[in-house]
Amino acid sequence: MEPRAPTEIAHAVEILKRGGLVAFPTETVYGLAADARNPDAVRAIFTVKGRPADHPLIVHLAAAEQLDQVAAVVSSPARRLAQRFWPGPLTLVVERSARVPLEVTGGHPTVAVRVPAHPVALALLGAFGGWLAAPSANRFGCVSPTTAEHVRRDLGDQIELILDGGPCQVGIESTIVDVSGDSIAILRPGAVTIDAIEEALERPLGRRKAPSPVPSPGALPRHYQPRARVEVLDRAALEARAVELEQDGARVGLLVSKQLEAAPAAATWSYSAGEGEALLARALYAALRAADDAGVEVILVERPRARGIGVAVLDRLTRAAQGKPAAATKKNRHRS
Ligand code: TXA
Ligand code: MG
Repeated sequence: MEPRAPTEIAHAVEILKRGGLVAFPTETVYGLAADARNPDAVRAIFTVKGRPADHPLIVHLAAAEQLDQVAAVVSSPARRLAQRFWPGPLTLVVERSARVPLEVTGGHPTVAVRVPAHPVALALLGAFGGWLAAPSANRFGCVSPTTAEHVRRDLGDQIELILDGGPCQVGIESTIVDVSGDSIAILRPGAVTIDAIEEALERPLGRRKAPSPVPSPGALPRHYQPRARVEVLDRAALEARAVELEQDGARVGLLVSKQLEAAPAAATWSYSAGEGEALLARALYAALRAADDAGVEVILVERPRARGIGVAVLDRLTRAAQGKPAAATKKNRHRS
């Protein structure tokens, strides 16, 4: 990637120091940053995103050594996970130090923290010298941005600067692990898998995703939603469903590991098979946005295997698919 012009980072730091907002790339998705120590700046994030104030933000740090500044206590599993996975797509929920304003944590006694693995994010955090509170840089409930252009289209008129670091390599939000209490719980699956966490801790965790102890948009049943309805289907069922929808006059989009031979579709996005789950994660949000741009009404997504990052992709797809009624196909209408 291109080296960042130092003046651009300096400009971003100047905006953050005076309480402004800057969008920046991370390896997962783009974030919308404010100085985590400045309550007014943090409040502006909620206004710009349209996010309820009791939904807490993630604090981004330049290095794992700063964990002791934001956490009241750092348990040994927390330290081990930080050492093993930072910088990287893992967020740890720890007991909050009094130095972290309650605006950041939505009034909760814990704080979510991570060190992102992106050269621009690390340059920004290093030059700023403090902590950056940042949610994903999209409107509340919508699909997270994985390019600077996505941010520009969602929030461009409301933020002063968008640092462009190219498309995000991971493409879905970080894994969130709650290490604040006695038992360790996965609150949101992501690229750092449960297996990898268990291996690092040398012990098994509960397999079920725990309900979040705080209001958590990422844990709402409906989230990450494009306008188009999302249907997740096994590859074998995709073609018949596309034909059925098309006969009903619906504009269909396909997100598949490789092109289908004969399915009708207004638009197709394909990622190649092989490391399919990781490639789907990287392509997912851009494809959902592109489906909306193309005026697609239903996007049929090939179901990824529930392994590795596929678990997290299925989690996002399930929430994206939630709550929109299935199109009444001719077949259904005849049956009823
Ligand atoms: O990959 C990511 O995590 C991206 C990049 C920008 O770092 N950030 C991100 O932030 O996805 P956001 O705000 O869109 O999602 C953060 C999630 C929310 O579901 C929030 O409720 C949860 O983290 N969270 C934050 N603080 C928490 C806490 N103290 N306890 C439990 N969940 C927390
Ligand atoms: Mg978000």
